[in-house]
Amino acid sequence: MDIRIFDSSRELAFFAADIFAELIRKKPDCVLGLATGATPLETYARLITLYEEGGLDFSQVRTFNLDEYLGLPVTDPNSYRYFMDSNFFSKVNIAPENTHVPDGNAADAEQMCSEYDRSIQASGGIDLQLLGIGRNAHIAFNEPGSDFSAGTHTVRLTESTIEANRIYFTESEMPRFAVTMGIGSIMKAKKILLLAVGDKKAQAVRDTVKGPVTPEVPASVLQNHPDCLILCDKAAASLL
Ligand code: GLP
Repeated sequence: MDIRIFDSSRELAFFAADIFAELIRKKPDCVLGLATGATPLETYARLITLYEEGGLDFSQVRTFNLDEYLGLPVTDPNSYRYFMDSNFFSKVNIAPENTHVPDGNAADAEQMCSEYDRSIQASGGIDLQLLGIGRNAHIAFNEPGSDFSAGTHTVRLTESTIEANRIYFTESEMPRFAVTMGIGSIMKAKKILLLAVGDKKAQAVRDTVKGPVTPEVPASVLQNHPDCLILCDKAAASLL
């Protein structure tokens, strides 16, 4: 795994967006794995600017998001489908039918999970997977103790994740369950780009990069990926 450290989250986001832009120009129908959370917002904003300036065409791009809360209507501003539509998809020329977010309201969640993995495979697989990282080093919603070989599945969120994300749920109740791509699905991506910003991520980054590969530190599995790049700002890299 390679690591790059930036003076600011803005520089980090510009660098990350350039990696996406280069791939989209080289392979216009590429398959992107996308993430939610505060961290990737600046990267999405930069990609939107590149699109508005005429330098990027999303018309053939296909996307698969990592995760979604269970039982939250897509009209709830906290749902990840809403997040992606409002912060990114509605602002570029991506075809709505080419965007995929796990359905947190499927009648049969298990069937939905296996169909999600099947459609990723049918698309040819993810070319570039964007990841954030939780304070406990979770990736997507794969919490400590997760099975490294799992595909898309439902999970119970840990108290630490519920606490970290509670700020977003000012009015509605924070869900306790979610659906997430598994670590097995994530590791199949051809290239992985993990973004970490802020001192709250410093310990998770250290454990991921310097610690042993263990399910207790879900992101540590990335040490085994052949093409993983971690971008940190100085604060997130402060314990390296
Ligand atoms: C949530 C998401 C993760 C994300 C993490 C960190 O738990 N499921 O995919 O990486 O939060 O979010 P933030 O970037 O807001 O710190």
